[in-house]
Amino acid sequence: MAYVHRTPIIVANWKMNTNLPEAMILAGGIKDAVADIHGVKVVICPPAPWIYPIADSWHRASKQLFLGAQNIHWEKEGPFTGEISAWMVKNLVKYVIIGHSERRFHFRETDELINDKVIAALEVGLRPILCVGEWSKDDAKNLMTKQLLKGLERVGEEKIKRVVIAYEPVWAISKGGAFRAATGEYVAERINIIREKIKEKYSRDIADDMTILYGGSVNRANIEEFISQDGIDGALVGAASLKLREFVEICRLASSN
Ligand code: PGA
Repeated sequence: MAYVHRTPIIVANWKMNTNLPEAMILAGGIKDAVADIHGVKVVICPPAPWIYPIADSWHRASKQLFLGAQNIHWEKEGPFTGEISAWMVKNLVKYVIIGHSERRFHFRETDELINDKVIAALEVGLRPILCVGEWSKDDAKNLMTKQLLKGLERVGEEKIKRVVIAYEPVWAISKGGAFRAATGEYVAERINIIREKIKEKYSRDIADDMTILYGGSVNRANIEEFISQDGIDGALVGAASLKLREFVEICRLASSN
């Protein structure tokens, strides 16, 4: 296979954490630190109310540092109490996490609904980060493939290039501060399956170009194990993204590879 260069992406998923001052300090610190780190894209996904203040404080768009939303609604507007549409955030963020296992589980999000969100994100020019991954090792292959193909239904060749996939086996996501990551080898195998499916559905070129991340207990001690694997193009980082030095170190290690 020809050598393919995909710029690594490190995504910070802050989930439902931080108050406004904490968010501003963390975002400011990341912005300052990543200015000296090259060869990696960094995406910060704060809780929705902090998106605007952070975007506002960053002033200028960067080619390397971006904001993302953690979720969107599939409709543009309407009677959907508590929801935020892709249209509302499209000028503030570039990415949006869709189909995270916590949304699938706690908010009963189905593959169909996730697909609607992917379509809505693409329609307004956002880059969806579609999360897929098995709940346990027993259902590994089939569930992941189903989530992937259903999530990408109606996504044509002209739009698929904007999609990022995050492979997140649910059993590997940290809990209460305890990291329990998969191994680099295991993840590389799974991501290889994802890339094959993309090749079957679209084409080899599209599969080769597709950025596929790993998420689940990534931290400064294990990021190199993942990023050094062929086919793993970065990480979706939860708990470790809330600690400034730890997160910056993850970005640095991902970039120097
Ligand atoms: P974690 O979370 O890094 O805390 O395991 C990852 C995620 O849920 O996206």
